[in-house]
Amino acid sequence: MSNRRILIAGNWKMNCLTTDGTALATAIAGKLREASSSNCDVLMAPPFTLLSTIKNALGNSEVLLSAQDCHFEASGAHTGDISPVMLKDIGCDYVILGHSERRTNHGESDELVRQKAELAIEKGLKVIICVGETEGERETGKTLDVVNSQLTGSIPANATADNCVIAYEPVWAIGTGKTATTDDVAEVHKEIRSHLAHIKSQDLADSMRILYGGSVNPSNSKELLSLEDVDGALIGGASLKADDFWTIIGHWI
Ligand code: PGA
Repeated sequence: MSNRRILIAGNWKMNCLTTDGTALATAIAGKLREASSSNCDVLMAPPFTLLSTIKNALGNSEVLLSAQDCHFEASGAHTGDISPVMLKDIGCDYVILGHSERRTNHGESDELVRQKAELAIEKGLKVIICVGETEGERETGKTLDVVNSQLTGSIPANATADNCVIAYEPVWAIGTGKTATTDDVAEVHKEIRSHLAHIKSQDLADSMRILYGGSVNPSNSKELLSLEDVDGALIGGASLKADDFWTIIGHWI
């Protein structure tokens, strides 16, 4: 039994667009407060414009606040970009980096993800680094090679088990309702942990959290998160409904 604490992370993406999103945050924070103790960390990643509002709505709750991206430089001529210094200042605990939607839609490379992560950590944030294969890569048997290579290229040099979390998200499972089988998830998570030992150290590999993401929902979350090397979930769709998100969290209360 590992002593890695489960992390349940909700990635709102470009949803919950207005201050209406506070109802979701308030509902989860309230339920967590009512629960006398919890065996998991809970995190919410709203869009940039809502970070401050959600921070206020969360009040003194234990729910962690995360952004969904940041720039690789602290300041400068970068129109439209957000610095990790700004995120830290506004009260963020975490930033998600290298999500497949950013890798695909914004052409983000492993190198860029690594640079962003190193600066974010330097500025006091914790990072969630996403990796995962496409359907074509899985079908041609390249899953483990792709994931290992993304991990090697994206993991920040200053990563520790405390400031860095890995999220394995098969691209074909994101937002599609298709989930990887428990055997597939177990295989990739085990490989990620052994690759971490290879490129970093056995200590780091044993203590770093590895989340699964891709159509996690109230019905499949318990089984997925009970796998030996799965230390939590990064959840899109099901994190947008308070009841669904709470059901997933509720397994660990
Ligand atoms: P999903 O998204 O749960 O809607 O599949 C997961 C993610 O993209 O982080």
